[in-house]
Amino acid sequence: MKKRVAILISGGGSNMVSLVDAMQSGKIDAKPVLVLSNNADAGGIAKARDKGVATEVVDHRLYNGDRVAFEIALHNTITKYNPDILCLAGFMRVLTAGFIKKWEGKMLNIHPSLLPKYTGLHTHQRAIDASDSKAGCSVHIVTAKLDDGPLLRQAEVPILTGDTAETLAARVLIEEHKLYPAALEAFVDKY
Ligand code: GAR
Repeated sequence: MKKRVAILISGGGSNMVSLVDAMQSGKIDAKPVLVLSNNADAGGIAKARDKGVATEVVDHRLYNGDRVAFEIALHNTITKYNPDILCLAGFMRVLTAGFIKKWEGKMLNIHPSLLPKYTGLHTHQRAIDASDSKAGCSVHIVTAKLDDGPLLRQAEVPILTGDTAETLAARVLIEEHKLYPAALEAFVDKY
């Protein structure tokens, strides 16, 4: 039976598209059963709908900072689709240990840095400011510590003279679109 994959996004969803395309083309032996956003305006929601994937919005703003109440709604919505694996793909909410525990070993994330360097935000600017020679992206299993957990794959991207956070982010994103499907493919094969 094909593994069922739910993808959580907050924005444009370009990584989500690369995952859905790889599953729908048969490259990954899995099925995208849900794309969920915490933000109703996320451009990725329309893209997922166009690809025939079910979509849901669980708007964190409705919970007035009550993370646990938000995560109960998130979990209840996700479980309706009975996924085996969750992929965070530009999902910009910090999840609590309680939520993560429910999906232990089954939740992946992509992060735009060479972890363990630069967890959190502004990864590209921080790599440039540190005069690093390379940046990149990482796919890892999500654990309770932010942007931590066992690494599945990484891709390096050289930092070029004159790079800005934007030019570097654009080149890293191209690698993200290859890395995440490759990591999910290997994860599903071993599942
Ligand atoms: C991607 O660069 C992803 O690595 C990053 O957000 C972007 C989402 O783009 N994720 C994080 O920073 C998570 N800590 P997308 O919506 O086009 O996939």
